[in-house]
Amino acid sequence: MNLILLGAPGAGKGTQAERICADYKIPHISTGDIFRKNIKEGTPVGLKAKSYIDKGQLVPDEVVVEIVALRLAEDDCKKGYLLDGFPRTVAQAKALDEIAKDLRVINIDVDLNALMDRITGRRVCPECGAGYHVSTKKGDKCDKCGATIVQRADDQPETVKKRLEVYVNQTAPLIEYYEKKGNLVTVDGMKSIAEVYEEVKKALR
Ligand code: AP5
Ligand code: MG
Repeated sequence: MNLILLGAPGAGKGTQAERICADYKIPHISTGDIFRKNIKEGTPVGLKAKSYIDKGQLVPDEVVVEIVALRLAEDDCKKGYLLDGFPRTVAQAKALDEIAKDLRVINIDVDLNALMDRITGRRVCPECGAGYHVSTKKGDKCDKCGATIVQRADDQPETVKKRLEVYVNQTAPLIEYYEKKGNLVTVDGMKSIAEVYEEVKKALR
């Protein structure tokens, strides 16, 4: 099963990916997580990506495509994988078509007006990547690994505004791109996390 999770910033891609990958036992490939790891480790890719991510802009296609191509060539992807946050432009989708087949796309549809609260209230674990929201999280320790959870550097209101703009202009056209190919299913991302996951499982059956 080769899956793509499509959706705006804060739509719940990472939240649903955690559940899907645990149940279906496939690797979770989040380009955002890969960049954040590189930024933390101070690698050349991290330094380059940071200048874009901090402004809410997309990292250039050629940088992202190369990283994903290398990742998909690893052994653990042979039995399937889940892509979270990639592709994000039509050029990336075309590049992916060259290296991947049997792709299924789940589009998490949300009201863009609800996303500012979701994103600015998000907290993440810098160690294991688990995600939370201040409205439901008790304490500041990760439930999975005990590390102190933090706010992502790009989750400040001004940067979020820019990310939403970028989504509308550069990523939303992918909905039509995959609709035309006939491999896209849309789920209602405004329902509760558990309800969205039920819809996802139904779509994958
Ligand atoms: P990335 O890390 O991919 O961020 P994003 O796409 O902006 O998406 P988010 O991670 O913000 O949202 P999410 O959909 O995962 O939501 P989550 O599940 O956490 O990318 C970051 C940056 O890296 C980009 O801006 C870009 O610069 C660069 N980049 C990455 N990939 C790239 C690419 N392919 N090309 C170029 N550049 C790239 O949920 C959000 C919050 O809402 C959480 O608090 C959660 O608990 C809560 N929540 C989730 N679901 C629900 C629900 N159903 N109801 C209520 N609350 C919910
Ligand atoms: Mg995410």
